[in-house]
Amino acid sequence: MRLLFLGDLVGRTGRMAAIEMLPRLRERYRLDFVIVNGENAAGGFGITEQILEELLDAGADVVTTGNHVWDQREALVFIERYDQLLRPLNFPPGTPGKGCGLFKARNGQEVLVINAMGRVFMNDLDCPFRAVDSELEACGLARGADAIFLDFHAEATSEKEAMGHFIDGRASCMVGTHTHVPTADHQILDGGTAYISDAGMCGDYNSVLGMEKEEPISRFLSRIPSSRFGPARGEATVCGVALETDDATGLARRFAPVRLGGRLARAEPEFWLSE
Ligand SMILES: [Fe+2]
Ligand SMILES: [Fe+2]
Repeated sequence: MRLLFLGDLVGRTGRMAAIEMLPRLRERYRLDFVIVNGENAAGGFGITEQILEELLDAGADVVTTGNHVWDQREALVFIERYDQLLRPLNFPPGTPGKGCGLFKARNGQEVLVINAMGRVFMNDLDCPFRAVDSELEACGLARGADAIFLDFHAEATSEKEAMGHFIDGRASCMVGTHTHVPTADHQILDGGTAYISDAGMCGDYNSVLGMEKEEPISRFLSRIPSSRFGPARGEATVCGVALETDDATGLARRFAPVRLGGRLARAEPEFWLSE
């Protein structure tokens, strides 16, 4: 199975670049399944129902989120109507929406997508390790799902690496999100789980994490907020990862970064282009 994941879409420039590129990438890479992180899709903060619809129309099968999931308050309501929108699994019991779901890919196989959030330097949610573990126990590879994908939305690379090794051999892939900067540590772990600490954002990299630079710099200098954060509006780099799983085991076969457009060095899954 061929999966594409795109990291946090930041503001209009990140969102529109992804929406424009997705139909072409679906064809170019002959994708079976597409996941995007939409937590910053609405002006950098949260996601609206209209934007969710646009992402699904463009070819996203599932939209994951993170700490910004409720920044647009309407998400608390419409999330109940969309199986394809996930919020972190380890929010307290009773939180609207779901943190994981089983979805059908284009090739007919079932993909379990899990969205969880870290606790180091972030809000103190329920334990993400135990939450992910219980989903993997309930619906494991080859027993309940043909592929399992975890978007682990976390700040600390230590927590992300620990999670990767914790689920190694039990999931197809773990991708880190939230820090908005792509890391160069993509690899397939010993047990067969593809891993990267951060997929990077889809947004303007002439920025501070996708936001206009002036206000973050001023806050670091003065410690006084002088205006709101706004998304940078230059050309976006669409960042994510390409994953191919083994149809029999569900483990990763090939894994590569994707970086298209904007100012970052271009990267594509060459193994798919040469076939
Ligand atoms: Fe984000
Ligand atoms: Fe985040």
